[in-house]
This record gives sequence, C-alpha cells and structure tokens, in this order.
Amino acid sequence: MVECVMKTFLAPMEDITDTVFRQVLCDIGRPDIFFTEFMNVDGFCSEGRDAVIHRLKFVDKERPIIIQLWGNTPENYAETVKYLVENVKPDGIDINMGCSVKDVLKTGGGGALIKQKDLVKEIIEVVRGNIGDIPLSVKTRLGYNSVDYDWIEYLLSFNLAMLTIHGRLVKEGYNVSCRWDDIGKCVDIKNSISPTTLLIGNGDIFSKEQGEEYVGKYNLDGYMVGRGILQNPWIFSDKNNVSKEERISVLKKHVKLYLDTWGGEKHFYTQRKYIKAYINGFDGAVKLRNELMLMGAEDILAF
Ligand SMILES: Cc1cc2nc3c(=O)[nH]c(=O)nc-3n(C[C@H](O)[C@H](O)[C@H](O)COP(=O)(O)O)c2cc1C
Repeated sequence: MVECVMKTFLAPMEDITDTVFRQVLCDIGRPDIFFTEFMNVDGFCSEGRDAVIHRLKFVDKERPIIIQLWGNTPENYAETVKYLVENVKPDGIDINMGCSVKDVLKTGGGGALIKQKDLVKEIIEVVRGNIGDIPLSVKTRLGYNSVDYDWIEYLLSFNLAMLTIHGRLVKEGYNVSCRWDDIGKCVDIKNSISPTTLLIGNGDIFSKEQGEEYVGKYNLDGYMVGRGILQNPWIFSDKNNVSKEERISVLKKHVKLYLDTWGGEKHFYTQRKYIKAYINGFDGAVKLRNELMLMGAEDILAF
C-alpha cells in the first residue's frame, strides 16, 4: 500500500470526514492518506443504497484514499468490493472491526467481529477474492473486554497490507485514555508474524509533534488522527498560528464546497461542527462563532 518512512492518516469519522472536509484539508494541510467514513455493506447491497452511497464520494485530489466498509455479511462484502473495484477504484479498502457504537455492535459488525473469528476469516477471504491488487487493511481496537493480543495475532496472520489499532477496548468507548504501551507491544507481534504489514497507531493524538513522538517511541509505521482534527484542522500543516482572516476564509471555502456538493442532501446544521473547528483560537472567537452559528450558508458566504 504505502512505501513507509512514516505516514499520517486522517481517521474515518462518520458525519465528519466527508469529501468536503477532506478537500478543504487538501488545501490547508493534509495527511498522507485519507479514509472515507465507514459504509455499511448490507445497506449498500439493499434498496437503501442511496442512503449510504454518498460516503463513497471523493475527488481525485483526495487520493490516496482508503474506503472503509463495515457489516457482517460475507456475500455483501463480496458484492460491494466488486463494485468498488470496477467503479470507484480506491487506493485501499479497509474493514472496520473496532466500532464501539451500540447500534453497530447489535448488528454483529464493527467491534463485535472481535468475538467472531470464523466470520472474520470468511469476510477477509471473500474480500480477497474480489479485491484484485487493491491493498486490504483492517482497523480495530486492542480487544473487546480486555487487551487481547491473540486477536491482534489472528488479524496479523492474514498478512494484511495495513493494520490500524485504536488503543482502547470495545467495551470502553472513549472512557479511558488510550493505551499506547499496548499498541507498542503489538509492533513486536507484527514484526514476528507479518513484518510487511504496516502498523498504524490511533488514539488521543492532538498534535503533529505528539504523533511523531509516538511513532518514534513505539516503532510504528504511522499515526492516525481522529477528533484532533476538529480541535485543529491545521494539525497536518506546519502552521502554528493561523490568523482570524485565514480561518474565516477557509470556513467560506468549506461552505461554498458544501453548497456545491451536498446543498440538497445534507442540512446546513450538520456543518456547525466545522464552524466550531475553524473559528477558534483568537480573541473574540467565541463571540464570532456564536454569530456564525446562527447564520445560513448564504449569509456566511456574504459575511
Ligand atoms: C464522531 C466519530 C465518528 C467515527 N466514525 C468512525 C468510522 O466511521 N470508522 C472508524 O473506523 N472509526 C470511526 N471513529 C473512530 C475514529 O476513527 C478513531 O478511531 C477514534 O476517534 C480514536 O481516535 P482519536 O482519539 O484520535 O479521536 C469515529 C469516531 C468519532 C468520534
């Protein structure tokens, strides 16, 4: 997948890391590799396809981009991957095996796959059968109820192109700090079982310096930033200080792209999280943000 010195990744985050946000990041400071939000293969292979297919949307400048899938039905993985290979041609396909959201776990997908090793094997085999030469990766957590190196070993036995580990357990959600030392132990397992698999660490990274420090300390191939991007959308850039004017201008660029891309599809209130992200860190930011939050898209563009 990636010739590795060290790679940076933007985490897949539902309703956050869509094509509009990723395109803005391409202009202000992008990671080496993007992920799409996860897309449910069962939804994709049903009459509800229209409700999930927007997650596949990206433009060329976002490449390299990895499409993330979730679900628990091997046939639907097969059909979805076949479609992706023929029509979308992503730079990688990733399977989510770590999501801790209750509604996802209830369906037997995401983190629930940790408890279904035979199904995991079946899914990986059918995906492999249809993926051609597109690299296959998995994103998971350290375990379900406890740190589970057998699980990590099991995944590494499939000789994946890449494995991303979020250093928490499925049962924990976000309630504890990330266990970076345990992610570090997975590097030793990887080196003995599948040295060519790239191992990426994820969890609680809020600056480039911190990410680089962890990659060095734990001998990882890269780091992935999730929520940190909303605290600082410039996290992948070399900028420490971003002026108020630039922040407003980037927000306007985002709103324009939103209108062009999603105008009729996503309500504008879904964009408030980005207003909060961009309009930050200068005197008077809170007041301005509160004013902008009350405006519609056209008003922000005219501001
Ligand atoms: C709002 C939200 C949506 C998320 N959606 C996904 C997703 O679609 N796929 C996935 O693998 N992880 C998803 N995650 C988990 C993140 O990718 C990441 O693993 C997690 O937030 C830990 O990284 P962080 O501490 O840098 O945020 C999501 C997290 C959040 C907060």
